[in-house]
Amino acid sequence: MTTELTLRRPDDWHLHLRDGVALRAVLPHTAERFARAVVMPNLKPPVTTTALALAYRQRILAALPAGADFQPLMTLYLTDHTAPDEMNRARDSGVVVGCKMYPAGATTHSDAGVTDIRRLDAVLDRMSELGLVLQLHGEVTQDEVDVFDREDRFLEQILAPLVERHARLKVVFEHITTASAARFVAGARPGVGATITPQHLIYNRNAIFQGGIRPHFYCLPILKTEPDRAALLAAATSGSPRFFLGTDSAPHARHTKESPCGCAGMYSAHAGIELYAEAFEDAGALHRLEGFASEHGPDFYGLPRNEGQVRLLRRDWSPPQGYEFGEDTVVPMRAGETLRWQLEL
Ligand code: DOR
Ligand code: ZN
Repeated sequence: MTTELTLRRPDDWHLHLRDGVALRAVLPHTAERFARAVVMPNLKPPVTTTALALAYRQRILAALPAGADFQPLMTLYLTDHTAPDEMNRARDSGVVVGCKMYPAGATTHSDAGVTDIRRLDAVLDRMSELGLVLQLHGEVTQDEVDVFDREDRFLEQILAPLVERHARLKVVFEHITTASAARFVAGARPGVGATITPQHLIYNRNAIFQGGIRPHFYCLPILKTEPDRAALLAAATSGSPRFFLGTDSAPHARHTKESPCGCAGMYSAHAGIELYAEAFEDAGALHRLEGFASEHGPDFYGLPRNEGQVRLLRRDWSPPQGYEFGEDTVVPMRAGETLRWQLEL
């Protein structure tokens, strides 16, 4: 049995860090494991300009624990009013790697998002020219579309035409959750990739209702069926360079999750590589973890792979019931349960 694993230092290609005290609470978890992370721009107000992204980046760097070796990769939040010239400022900054498109109303802090992606054709053309990556929250938002079908409808109605219309644009279909999304990405034109979260590899939608309603399993896109989970795990462990690690770790204060209208998001940064090690091991594919976690992402983004390494030891440990999170706590994935891989610090 493998008892330790040495990997090229991984990156997290989709992360929510928040701001202020929340940022200071969660950032150490990511910085211990990952060399870089693509930081999502859905703050309130959102990070819509390069100037805001540069200021946010400084706050992240200032919140890093002493001696940490971590680079935030910044993103801009697209709105109906984003100007093509903002893309040049983004590229020239040297620290913005892409732009996140949230369909208006799709998820946490997405009310300022895009109402019709066709309005952004000039912005997307400029992004293609400059090599900026489009990161998509892939869900339609119409009330009449079932919450479990929103990703599939997005794929058919928005994504498939989009990747043809913008044939040179690099597109990441973020946090994919369905067998059809995995199939689409595997067969798409070059320049189309996807991130996959640990929760979508480990759980199916039954987890949300196991013995009662479980708000800590509520995230968006929502967990899907067992065949979907199996297809995602097959894609992640396939060795295809189109699939890479993106935790979508999304911390919320405990009382805002355990509420009559609980927020969407699962917190996984405390075990952001360990959870994937477990999923890959259960699939008999530990040898594919390094590609998924440390190689495919930088290759897709055109960035160098990291030089350093991390070591994981086969050693049971148990995440606490909560980590301090400002005045409240954040409940981590697997709180009080056992994880079998531990990061060597
Ligand atoms: O579950 C989610 N939480 N999905 C998202 O798209 C946003 C995220 C958040 O920011 O909390
Ligand atoms: Zn996210």
